[in-house]
Amino acid sequence: MFDQLNALPADPLLGLISQFRDDPNPKKVDLGVGVYRDESGHTAIMSAVQKAAQQHLETEDSKTYIGPGGVPGFIQGVKSLVFGKDSSILKDERIAAIQTPGGCGALRVGAELIKRVKGELTVWVSDPTWANHIPLIKSAGLNIKTYPYFDHSTGAVNFTAMDEQLAQLGPTDIVLLHGCCHNPTGADLSFENWQQVASRAAQNGFIPFVDIAYQGLGDGLEEDVKGVRYLAEKVDEMIVATSCSKNFGLYRERTGSLLIQTKSKEQAQAIQTQIQDVARANYSMSPAYGGFLVDLVLSNDSLRTEWEAELNSMALRVKSLRAGLLKQIQLQGIEQDFSFITQQKGMFSYLGITKEQVQRLKSEYSIYMADSSRVNVAGLNTHCLEYVAQSLKAVL
Ligand code: LMR
Repeated sequence: MFDQLNALPADPLLGLISQFRDDPNPKKVDLGVGVYRDESGHTAIMSAVQKAAQQHLETEDSKTYIGPGGVPGFIQGVKSLVFGKDSSILKDERIAAIQTPGGCGALRVGAELIKRVKGELTVWVSDPTWANHIPLIKSAGLNIKTYPYFDHSTGAVNFTAMDEQLAQLGPTDIVLLHGCCHNPTGADLSFENWQQVASRAAQNGFIPFVDIAYQGLGDGLEEDVKGVRYLAEKVDEMIVATSCSKNFGLYRERTGSLLIQTKSKEQAQAIQTQIQDVARANYSMSPAYGGFLVDLVLSNDSLRTEWEAELNSMALRVKSLRAGLLKQIQLQGIEQDFSFITQQKGMFSYLGITKEQVQRLKSEYSIYMADSSRVNVAGLNTHCLEYVAQSLKAVL
């Protein structure tokens, strides 16, 4: 039976992990998978998360199931982070929510929920979008189309083109939006753009599906969700997938959530049973551990303050690396305009170089990035900026 199945190429992002590990070049630079690193290249456990883990170890006295929705305090905490603690949507109990195995789990359960709705629905993703969005959504059996998003000539969003496409959509369409820190481009919608998306959604009836995996790594925890909160207020229904991989550094613990905004409390109760049913049919229920840690951090004033301060310093570090990279590029006398690097948000930047140039950076200079030329800015450090800029000059 299995001889019918051929070997597949490595995952475009995860495949870079082993390629980098096996490269003996001492000058190698890993700008591949989206993982935050400190100046020494290490992905440390965040200090508040470390303390929460210790506290959890000392107090957990059972490993029995906690129920299909996940850790209740975690769900409360994540809802407040995304919608704001005073949100009327929360007060009206219009959100169905479950803890999920990472943001991927949330996207997949969200996609399967959409699949349960009658009719030919289409999910629209930005061009380009995160490499795993398409497999996650397609394998749930949904149609996918792309809307124009990134303008390669400016390194920013081509909102006019995006808006023209949104104007054509209606109630059988779902539009996947990146809540902040667009992956892979780093080009974000402005608040005015969000307002326009919200009015299109409210008028035309398409459903926003927001993937927010980097809250706090752009302009701050509150600032990064301004657009999403505005959108939530303007539409009846919305899907949100969150991840704690980056902003809590919980990558391998697979901690995320799926939040479904509905029209009423009654509808939220019905959808709650649906998403739990989707989860049960796939993996039963999410691992709980990461949820306990996030709950402990968010519900304890001192841990929360410590977490917010560390998250802020991570975001600031990424901003300063952006400025540092641009400066080195200019010092090398590279004529091509890379000034977009300092305007983009979050961990990623799209360099806009060719696949061949990306390959040369890898094979000749041991600088690893996605084929699309997406770089994980958080993989840079002050020591390698000059080398990266010199190598870039050599391949341009
Ligand atoms: C990335 O985009 O590199 C990260 O979100 C890791 C992943 O799972 O692809």
